[in-house]
Amino acid sequence: MKALILSGGRGTRLRPITHTSAKQLLPVANKPILFYGIEAVKEAGIKEVGIVVGETKPEIKKAVGTGKKWGINITYIEQEKPLGLAHAVKISQDFIRDDNFVMYLGDNLIKDGITSLVKEFEKTKPNAQILLARVPHPEQFGVVELKGKKVLRLVEKPKRPKSDLALVGVYMFDKNIFKAVNNIKPSWRNELEITDAIQYLIAHNFTVRPHIITGWWKDTGKLEDILEANRILLDDLKTHVKGKVDKESELFGKVRIDKGAEIRKSVIRGPVIIGENSRIVNSYIGPFTSVYFKVTIENSEIEHSIILENSKISDIRRIEDSLVGQNVEILKSKAKPSAYRIMVGDSSRVEVT
Ligand code: TTP
Repeated sequence: MKALILSGGRGTRLRPITHTSAKQLLPVANKPILFYGIEAVKEAGIKEVGIVVGETKPEIKKAVGTGKKWGINITYIEQEKPLGLAHAVKISQDFIRDDNFVMYLGDNLIKDGITSLVKEFEKTKPNAQILLARVPHPEQFGVVELKGKKVLRLVEKPKRPKSDLALVGVYMFDKNIFKAVNNIKPSWRNELEITDAIQYLIAHNFTVRPHIITGWWKDTGKLEDILEANRILLDDLKTHVKGKVDKESELFGKVRIDKGAEIRKSVIRGPVIIGENSRIVNSYIGPFTSVYFKVTIENSEIEHSIILENSKISDIRRIEDSLVGQNVEILKSKAKPSAYRIMVGDSSRVEVT
């Protein structure tokens, strides 16, 4: 069994962050989303892992490396353009060869991992196994219609969904998927759709086994989903304090302070992570906040947010529900006339009070 982790794509729903970085490397609970997928695959006993990469290849390669740190072997597979999930499978044929494989979307998180699902696939030996979850807004997903345990139809983001069963971003295939991806045509959005490839398998009498999952999973393609994932993962945080906390500071609940971090005259109400070499001075950090490394926060209040590396927040009354990118400065200006002075990237969103 091999694994194919998809880490290319456009990431349009996460602009402006994705103008400059790969969405799969955004940290949730201070760990890049992609690492959760790699760990899930490794947990399932898979050692040969292909990562499909696009424009952000250098950054992904730098963060992930050879796979040695997880005890697995990583092969990078370049996708010239994000031409669809089935296209990513198609270009990976030389890597997969005749093996069975798990295809894992690099921006998906599945809390319970995939070990039992891989075992089930290996035991029941269908041609494909798809994971489904009941969702409140199926129109935003690939939607599957079932009749009993049989998959009837798959439709990509239908306007009027016929079920509430969404495709979760983890699939298992045998080599017959290559017949499908080599025979389907691009969709209206000019992508080779994995839903069409699976539909091809059904039409040609291959077995497609549905498995409805009940545990938590998330497609982190949008800001709200990233914040929710951060919240869910921080809920399981274990307290440890490796950095310095002065006597005038108070920590409540589950709080992780990494080494080299410094907390002065502040209140931290967990679950919260403060990353390595970050400084929190005269501030309040509220529940469900992840502060990455080398961040400075002074005289400010922050809650339910993710702050990326090297950013600085100073004298800001309160920030909530926010994702602050790398090397960002948010400061109170004393200059006259008093006004907002901002330089924000394309497709940014700023809400002020
Ligand atoms: P999506 O989130 O469906 O697509 P996207 O990354 O282009 O994002 P957006 O819709 O916001 O523009 O992709 C799911 C995962 O698969 C994600 O990790 C990116 C990856 N992917 C590829 O590697 N190649 C592709 O051709 C596509 C479409 C996605």
